Amino acid sequence: MTLEEVLESFHEKLLSQYKQTALTKAFERISDRYRKESGFFLQTEEERWAYLFTRLPATFGVAQKVFEELKQRCPNLNPQSLLDVGAGPGTGMWAAASVFEESLQSCTLFEKDQHFATMGKQLAEHSSFPAVQKAEWKSVDMTRPLEIEPHDLTILSYSIGEIKESFYKPLLETLWNSTGKALVIIEPGTPSGYHRMMKIRDILLQLGGFLWAPCPHHQKCPILEGDWCHFSARVSRTSLHRKLKSADLGYEDEKFCYLIFGKEPCAAYQSRIIRHPMKHSGFVEVVLCQKEGIKKTIFSKRDKEKYKDIKKMNWGDVIS
Ligand SMILES: C[S@@+](CC[C@H](N)C(=O)[O-])C[C@H]1O[C@@H](n2cnc3c(N)ncnc32)[C@H](O)[C@@H]1O
Repeated sequence: MTLEEVLESFHEKLLSQYKQTALTKAFERISDRYRKESGFFLQTEEERWAYLFTRLPATFGVAQKVFEELKQRCPNLNPQSLLDVGAGPGTGMWAAASVFEESLQSCTLFEKDQHFATMGKQLAEHSSFPAVQKAEWKSVDMTRPLEIEPHDLTILSYSIGEIKESFYKPLLETLWNSTGKALVIIEPGTPSGYHRMMKIRDILLQLGGFLWAPCPHHQKCPILEGDWCHFSARVSRTSLHRKLKSADLGYEDEKFCYLIFGKEPCAAYQSRIIRHPMKHSGFVEVVLCQKEGIKKTIFSKRDKEKYKDIKKMNWGDVIS
């Protein structure tokens, strides 16, 4: 089964164990904590289940979108092994398996919360991806010195924000050294998520990493003070997800920040669209990040070819 199907199949079992109101309250507590502390810090079983049904679809949708971007940047990457650090219920692994289904053979997950790892294993049992079913879960605290086997791909999805910044450098150094092809980091699309990313970006550039996305260059981030670079993923909500959030819409837009660092240079591209393009009649206005800085550009109907292409483009897309 896909992750969406597995989650759907858990609805009934979950509602026979917990009252919906208790899960809604757990969801409200984790959202409140997330807003105040920029982290989830899940404390009870109900909070973990609430995370699974209200946050996991979003963090999974984001990780999938980031891996799609990785595949576009480097179509021949074909990662065979994955390390998911601060894995929670295995979000990064499920996303990697869905994007790199043909090549991915083994997954290792580092998680310090054993209750969460147990839930993750329960979900994974039902996966149709062999790499997910036979994943190896390890009880690991990422702030401790780590001995890591080499992996092609490493992901830290919504997890580095839960440790103190003083741990970033030693952790990233260790992960970078054990990564064979690419290292992916995802954080919430908030100003604090962005500021964390800027620190991580500096560390990985110093370690000799090649920044594949989202920046089209290795220079200092040209975003103006008070603003922050982030992107958006549209993710669908299951029926229980809607109930717990008292939401009507069948989808939500999840904002995120991300970095993809590769071990080798990838094909260069000129710019990335960093806001929703403003589509007017006869022209499209886009904000682009380029080597030369942030630039507002207008593509007019008069320039037929470019206009045709830009009309199909979205926030986060690349212009070669
Ligand atoms: C917000 S959850 C993200 C889970 C998952 N990666 C995702 O994208 O949905 C953060 C995870 O990081 C884990 N975590 C926090 N500090 C950790 C540490 N020091 N070592 C290992 N895992 C940690 C938490 O237990 C939790 O599962």
